[in-house]
Amino acid sequence: MREVAVVGLGYVGLTMAACLAARGIRTTGVDVDKEKLAMVERRTSPFYEPGLQDMLSESLRSGHLALTADCEEAVGRSELVFVTVGTPSNPDGSINLDQIKAACTNVGSALRKSPRYHLTVIRSTVTPGTTENVVKPLLESGSGKTCGSDFGLCVNPEFVSEGRAVDGTMNPGRIIIGEWDSQAGDILERFYAGFCDGKMPPVLRTTFANAELIKYANNAFLATRVSFINSLANLCERIPGADIELIAKGIGLDPRIGPLFLRAGLGWGGSCFPKDLRALVEFARAKGEGLPVIRSAYDVNEFQPLRAVRMAEHLIGSLRGKRVAVLGVSFKPETDDTREASGLVVIHGLLREGAEVTVYDPRALQNARAVHGEKVRYAQSALECIEGADCCIVVTEWDEFRKLTAEDFVKRMRIPSVVDGRRIYDPNLFKSKARFAAIGLA
Ligand code: UGA
Repeated sequence: MREVAVVGLGYVGLTMAACLAARGIRTTGVDVDKEKLAMVERRTSPFYEPGLQDMLSESLRSGHLALTADCEEAVGRSELVFVTVGTPSNPDGSINLDQIKAACTNVGSALRKSPRYHLTVIRSTVTPGTTENVVKPLLESGSGKTCGSDFGLCVNPEFVSEGRAVDGTMNPGRIIIGEWDSQAGDILERFYAGFCDGKMPPVLRTTFANAELIKYANNAFLATRVSFINSLANLCERIPGADIELIAKGIGLDPRIGPLFLRAGLGWGGSCFPKDLRALVEFARAKGEGLPVIRSAYDVNEFQPLRAVRMAEHLIGSLRGKRVAVLGVSFKPETDDTREASGLVVIHGLLREGAEVTVYDPRALQNARAVHGEKVRYAQSALECIEGADCCIVVTEWDEFRKLTAEDFVKRMRIPSVVDGRRIYDPNLFKSKARFAAIGLA
């Protein structure tokens, strides 16, 4: 099996490196952050991702996974180089390519020193044209070699979700390959055929630009679906007898629509949807296209978390001096990631209204503390969080919160009142016992 380097150990890169190693591929993970490398060397994942910790330990123990800050050395001994560095937003929303440029400069120098053919694979999310106009020139000038004849280049976007990254990496649902030439595409397809061991998913081979745009289209489509259902949820709240859950179920039965990504809630967050939609809109604007549908999806999402604050006011009146419990601050369950999480916006809105906020999350309290510091209290359990509270807002649908009963709230809260921001409770069980409001429910 070939040796592989994975450059950039965020959740995509670190999970990928661990998964490749777990399948017996000799893999070197590269990152500039030495503290992070030391942490992983100690067999500790720098973030919470189910299953990753064990996989990392095993891969390091077996010796299939090695770690280094020396990109050139890692690339020199690898036939395949996956670039998985971050592509954050610039202040104007456009994509920031600093990490891509730094990584490709290092890969270019490594290629200069190597007599062999190496294939570089861009797995980071980059706007159309980046691989051809930024990555390829950097690799060619850094190496003094020619793309195609001397080294290979592909774009291979990833579609794994946080919280399910290990399974998504081990069992990809599809493989999109943007290729400079068929030699490069063939090598990558063969690599995946080996990795997937006979269970090869559908493969689409195309140009760099198409592969780059497929990734943005994918995230923009999913985010738009969620904003679509959230808009209708807001309408349902004004129609007696209406319930968005039923509307979603009804339309989801249409095979042309399907049931996924129709869960109404307090909006989407995370490290991908917000920054990718901003980057796509800004990219399109520079090309003279407005993308009004996608812009609206983004705008809807800006206001969605604050609906929870309005609902709390509706239930208990002015929030000034009131104690509000917030359950969940990660942007979704099974992650400790709070980047652009709705929970942070909700907390901000509550503080602005003068509420005293207590937060609990099974995994993300440390990240919440980094944002809100001592402005809020942090509870050690869900029950401690709601103790003596005047209102509780459920922001993230952790299983732990689903298990709470109406009686738990009634027993512990000063005023039993619950805002279900993720539709995890049966309104019939709650409405008779507590003040209750839920997204998308009349
Ligand atoms: C997303 C995509 O789903 C992945 O395919 C993609 O690879 C990844 O971005 C990326 O670009 O790296 P992720 O951000 O981990 O993955 O999370 P999702 O499961 O897509 O959820 C995104 C947000 O939408 C969350 O805040 C979630 O709570 C929200 N959501 C999702 C809803 O509010 N309703 C739904 O029905 C589904």
